[in-house]
Amino acid sequence: MRTPVIAGNWKMNTTVTEAVALVKAMRAELSKVSNVEKVLCPPFVSLAPVKELIKDSSIKLGAQDLYFTEKGAYTGEISPVMVADLCELVIIGHSERRQYFNETSKVVNKKVAAALEVGLKPILCVGEKLAENEAGKTEEVVSKQLKSSLADISNLDGLIIAYEPVWAIGTGRAATGEQTNETIAFIRRNISGLYDDKVAQEIRILYGGSVTAANAAGFMVQPEIDGALVGGASLKAAEFLNIVIQTSAMG
Ligand code: PGA
Repeated sequence: MRTPVIAGNWKMNTTVTEAVALVKAMRAELSKVSNVEKVLCPPFVSLAPVKELIKDSSIKLGAQDLYFTEKGAYTGEISPVMVADLCELVIIGHSERRQYFNETSKVVNKKVAAALEVGLKPILCVGEKLAENEAGKTEEVVSKQLKSSLADISNLDGLIIAYEPVWAIGTGRAATGEQTNETIAFIRRNISGLYDDKVAQEIRILYGGSVTAANAAGFMVQPEIDGALVGGASLKAAEFLNIVIQTSAMG
């Protein structure tokens, strides 16, 4: 069966000092929770100190992005090899990157391929905008994103998908569990079409968008939803821990 994943996307929040304090506030309790893959995704500058703090624990480390070239004259960028040196996972194609940094599915595709090449597990984000949702285009948008983001990638090797409707991110307006379950079932069928049924049954597909301790159970109870990518609520130790504990209790 698929082990659920709860990943905290800290986005551009926390100084190194604050990141260290946040990890110290939750690591003991967090590492005790079984049957859930717990992932912290702090900003790049905090990856090394956080890695040190969680080194003997069951908590995993993820980055929030990478560049697709191995090394060279790309001022300001971080390569897949650098990320793989510290992390097991990496978020790719988050809607904020698509929105503010003009990241296209073509770029996302190169990043996914580069991550898999160095043994990183990508958390590939897909999701429709509000207008697309209201126009009934969710499935069309998501299947296009999947197809182009995964183009020419034959082995998904631990890749995780996060379905994050853009209108639900950071808005306090989460999707419903039922709605999300349906879209995630659609994504799984899509993966089955692009790969095969075995791949589709094994791949973890998470929900993301305004997940809190108050609404998490409504998602986790759904059979197709394999966990959550948590933004705002992952910056509060007690709340993040609560979401992880609730997820474990569903298992
Ligand atoms: P949010 O962010 O939980 O703050 O809505 C989720 C995400 O962007 O991954």
